[in-house]
Amino acid sequence: MLGRLNHVAIAVPDLAAASAVYRDTLGAKVGAPQALPEHGVTVVFIDVGNTKIELLEPLGEGSPIAAFLAKSPSGGMHHVCYEVDDILAARDHLKANGARVLGDGNPKIGAHGKPVLFLHPKDFQGTLVELEQV
Ligand code: CO
Repeated sequence: MLGRLNHVAIAVPDLAAASAVYRDTLGAKVGAPQALPEHGVTVVFIDVGNTKIELLEPLGEGSPIAAFLAKSPSGGMHHVCYEVDDILAARDHLKANGARVLGDGNPKIGAHGKPVLFLHPKDFQGTLVELEQV
């Protein structure tokens, strides 16, 4: 069921500053900021060859990463995203095995225009897991 690691997401308080660190200090290929109001974040993708880094900054009221940044004000690793071929089959398999799917259990369209779901971190070693259908 589980495919490649699509990206590792890092929540940051200042997207421009974090982008500059990756671009200038680390010499990475940094993409343009993308506002995703329906997810409450602005994202920047960084291509690191074998996978991507997704920088996340809160957008609007009640951003899902606001509480995370309140606990970790300088930022931190927020989630990992794995690719799946069939997100509904993956969801049903996970639920049948006792894993909790966040939200209403239905995929939303993510930053790449593809369906995504998030899984409860308590069921996955304290790590928030995103699944993306590719
Ligand atoms: Co993500």
